Amino acid sequence: MTQELTTAAVAQEPTGPRTGWWRDAVIYQVYVRSFADSDGDGIGDLPGITARLPHVKELGADAVWLTPFYASPQADGGYDVADYRTVDPLFGSLSDADALVREAHRLGLRVIVDIVPNHTSDQHPWFRAALAGGPERERYHFRPGKGANGQLPPNDWESVFGGPAWTRSADGDWYLHLFAPEQPDLNWDHPAVHAEFESVLRFWLDLGVDGFRIDVAHGMVKAPGLPDIGASEQAKLIGSQVLPFFDQDGVHEIHRAWRTLLDSYPGERIAVAEAWAPSSERLALYVRPGELHQAFNFQFLTCGWDAERMRATVDASLAATGAVGAPTTWVLSNHDVVRHVTRYGGGEQGLRRARAATLFTLALPGSAYLYQGEELGLPEVVELPDELRQDPAFLRAAGQDGFRDGCRVPIPWTAEGPSFGFGSAAPWLPQPDTWRGLSVASQSGDPHSTLELYRAALALRRELPGLGDGTMSWLPAPEGVLAFARPGFACTLNTLPRTVQLPLAGRPVLTSAAVEFDAENALLPAESAVWWAI
Ligand code: GLC
Repeated sequence: MTQELTTAAVAQEPTGPRTGWWRDAVIYQVYVRSFADSDGDGIGDLPGITARLPHVKELGADAVWLTPFYASPQADGGYDVADYRTVDPLFGSLSDADALVREAHRLGLRVIVDIVPNHTSDQHPWFRAALAGGPERERYHFRPGKGANGQLPPNDWESVFGGPAWTRSADGDWYLHLFAPEQPDLNWDHPAVHAEFESVLRFWLDLGVDGFRIDVAHGMVKAPGLPDIGASEQAKLIGSQVLPFFDQDGVHEIHRAWRTLLDSYPGERIAVAEAWAPSSERLALYVRPGELHQAFNFQFLTCGWDAERMRATVDASLAATGAVGAPTTWVLSNHDVVRHVTRYGGGEQGLRRARAATLFTLALPGSAYLYQGEELGLPEVVELPDELRQDPAFLRAAGQDGFRDGCRVPIPWTAEGPSFGFGSAAPWLPQPDTWRGLSVASQSGDPHSTLELYRAALALRRELPGLGDGTMSWLPAPEGVLAFARPGFACTLNTLPRTVQLPLAGRPVLTSAAVEFDAENALLPAESAVWWAI
């Protein structure tokens, strides 16, 4: 008998407030510019998202995370904010944001917004005043240069996007920007910076948002004296060591203050840290009691298709977060990395692995973040015309890879239209023609599709009590195969490029590929996963 199991009963919504909703939440990341365009300018917007929220609901997610939609010159896709309390006209208005939050809540979805506290836009009124010589200068990092005429940067720090992390201003001093020159770093030693961000958090909490994704949560505090690093290619060191500009212990004080603020609001408002820490233990510091609720687990994202490394990373992640009583987050893709179908090798193999990895991660204890389009099995778009690329790193040599546009191509909703249902005009980045067949409409109702696999997995995650938060234990398995149990549940992942025969681990409830079963055994094809009820 060959079965491909992709259907599952849709579970009931939990009623009433639930303690610790975030501990096992599935949070769907919306890249605002590329989700749905309501006004035909080729760029996604808030009303477009509101109209498409039913897709997220039907998928079975608990919440959406929206990337920045605030007033911004868009030097870095909105991560350069000029006004934290205004919606950029490109994306709509404040009342559109309000309508989005209301509609999400009506549907039973929570809303998390992005907050960008490490830097502002160079067009932010504070920075403009700083350049004009005002006292706002103290809110950034201005320093005289080195060399006889101050013609050299104050230290050897490099921008994550490449090139020096300093730009010289007209008056001769240099200012620090860990990202693009249009993103000057704030000085978090200044009390006005603390006060301003607490006020901004309150602004959005009062509007009803359920939490924040904290951009560069590991970067706000710099080592005293801004010491040299003494090495080049510093972007490659991020995530492998503590740097004088990343993962400094002082950031935790800010997070503790924000946690107190969040806890003063009703309804369990949360914060998730985007923190690139050198180890699972350092990452767990961000989610200690009294700090943030979650931190993205990039250790798993970067560990590749390797059973031993996957297992070791799961163990390290769970041990580190477990030690501080926090849940782990699982994330395979986001707007900064190559989509995982492509990371796993692309083509049919990449998709096969991606589907299996999805079942594996969604079965692990903790919360999961999905990136828009991964439920469609979208690959990275590798051939984009250079003149359309927006990633600031693309324009600057030798930094972060600079090709982050390929994971930001607008979503195909239908098989027809100038942008496959994204909007009425050509999208800001062209979609490959093959995406016609990957659209939401094309995949809906097709039991073999990746979309239906995600829907079934998320429905089962609600239905089976052993999934989500809780414990797991590894089961014996041959080399290259990972198997683990949860209460009443098991998951098996075959990472090998060939079929393996395994004894039945229970009653199969979902498979990432066609699996053969007989009375005693299952034949798992290459790079596939099975969920079992036991
Ligand atoms: C974060 C964002 C990324 C942005 C950077 C600077 O890493 O995810 O998109 O470029 O911060 O704000």
